[in-house]
Amino acid sequence: MKFHLDEKIWLIVSFGMIIGFMLFTGYQTFVLGMGPPSHMETIDPQKVDETAPFDQPGVKQIGENEYEVVMTLEIFRFNPNNIEIPAGSTVHFTMTSKDVVHGFQVAGTNLNAMVTPGHIQKISQTFNQTGEYLVVCNEFCGVGHQHMATTITVK
Ligand code: CUA
Repeated sequence: MKFHLDEKIWLIVSFGMIIGFMLFTGYQTFVLGMGPPSHMETIDPQKVDETAPFDQPGVKQIGENEYEVVMTLEIFRFNPNNIEIPAGSTVHFTMTSKDVVHGFQVAGTNLNAMVTPGHIQKISQTFNQTGEYLVVCNEFCGVGHQHMATTITVK
């Protein structure tokens, strides 16, 4: 088989790019530790109400300026809702869904998570700015989806 020079150049360039991307991805994963999480917490979605910590949803102070919010999502509400925390608090959200896939998006922050039944979702945020933050479900979850909202008040 005979290759033209152009074909050879193209083959070298394209294989070089593939090797380059693989090396870069390997570098990110193994050297920078940017691989996707391999550990996933699961829960029986039928037994959320009986399973700790979701048997006691609510806001709990766990340190100075540090709070844990254990939250369940279901059609079409967040429990607890209308959360209040002092400014400067770091809040660790631990969430799960009792029925279908919901979203947890907090306007004005980078908080945006998918909350799926059977899985435990964890996400943290520090709230420095006072005000009322709108929390919305951003995954279509049924006829009441557009009414699924609450607030986080930082004061
Ligand atoms: Cu819950 Cu949309």
